Amino acid sequence: MNRFVELQNIREQFPAIQQQVYNQSLVYLDNAATTLKPKAVIDRIHHYYSIENSNIHRGVHYLSQQATTAFEQARAYVASYLNAAYPHEVIFTKGATESINLVAHSLGELLMETGDKILITAMEHHSNMVPWQQLCNRKEGELLIAGMNEAGETDLVHYRNLLEQKPKIVALTHVSNSLGTINPVREMIALAHQHQIPVLIDGAQSIVHQPIDVQELDCDFFVFSGHKVYGPMGAGVLYGKTHWLEKMPPYQYGGEMVDQVSYAHTSFNQLPFKFEAGTPNVSAVLGLEAALRFMQQTGIEHIKSYERNLLEEAENELKKIPSMRIIGQAKSKAPVISFLIGNIHPFDLGTLLDKMGIAVRTGHHCAQPVMDAFDIPGTIRASLAMYNNADDIQRFIAAVKKAADMLS
Ligand code: ALA
Repeated sequence: MNRFVELQNIREQFPAIQQQVYNQSLVYLDNAATTLKPKAVIDRIHHYYSIENSNIHRGVHYLSQQATTAFEQARAYVASYLNAAYPHEVIFTKGATESINLVAHSLGELLMETGDKILITAMEHHSNMVPWQQLCNRKEGELLIAGMNEAGETDLVHYRNLLEQKPKIVALTHVSNSLGTINPVREMIALAHQHQIPVLIDGAQSIVHQPIDVQELDCDFFVFSGHKVYGPMGAGVLYGKTHWLEKMPPYQYGGEMVDQVSYAHTSFNQLPFKFEAGTPNVSAVLGLEAALRFMQQTGIEHIKSYERNLLEEAENELKKIPSMRIIGQAKSKAPVISFLIGNIHPFDLGTLLDKMGIAVRTGHHCAQPVMDAFDIPGTIRASLAMYNNADDIQRFIAAVKKAADMLS
């Protein structure tokens, strides 16, 4: 049985995958950087700007009310998609990075005293490291780093030990963007909660590959970007438990997030608006809702097992190439493959792949400390999505072999 058949008609939904680059059909394997968009998302944005275009929460007129209703329905849908307890636990931001910065500033202000600590892992993207590092700098505190083994798996013994130092906040990537490792976040959250420490999960690379249930995970915060889950750029989500969001001070000030304003005093709006200063990216939020509906309709479990098969196929073939080194060999892995071949520079190999119509990412993948840990300058990274197929994998493997021969 061909296990790659079932999702094939998915490709028809993605206009960008059907184009040619350098006179060859595109093989798009840079999905961890950003995913391509299905027609449902493109059409939703087009419809908003063609018909509904209006500011929200402000107007008495018909269009504004329509747009406001659509925006709040999107919030309710995202909440149900994540299994959040309430829609007001979903804050719209411009992406995972802004969501993390919001928590680092606001929760950081609430919880951090001089000399306090924050705990992260050794496989964080810069966006889930630098905001915490800077918070620690402001508070003269310390950033604790849970180490990892050679396969790129978090050292849970080290993590447990660091929790004994009573960090004020734990921030963990769910899936490493540079290694593909899936962290056992449910267990890690439970361990942090034994010390009453709130946990933020960076889901930027996980939500596109697996179902997410924030109540089941019991995370205090969960963040992701729309554009990495088939949605548009410019909209992302911060999920937070009500009791934290209520206590946290606003992150940005301006319109919409206020209640009463005078020169003497300003009071703030209720959740979720307290954290949504200024006009949001309404079309991107509506596009994000369309993207998540698309994921739901396709079937997340189905996507997960399909992508797992593709990953297995690609890794098995890659491993047959002489001098191949796969960076990140965790037992539990998302469809992200970082690799090096002999002494070939990742950029040279990536450039040749591009000329063969294969889009990958090369470099440090915004995770320089991860590259330092492996003592490498960077990798070539192929990251898969639901529209990739067996033909893509074959083209990719053949191109890697050809490029490696040319460069050896
Ligand atoms: N964070 C994105 C990546 O891993 C941009 O490529």
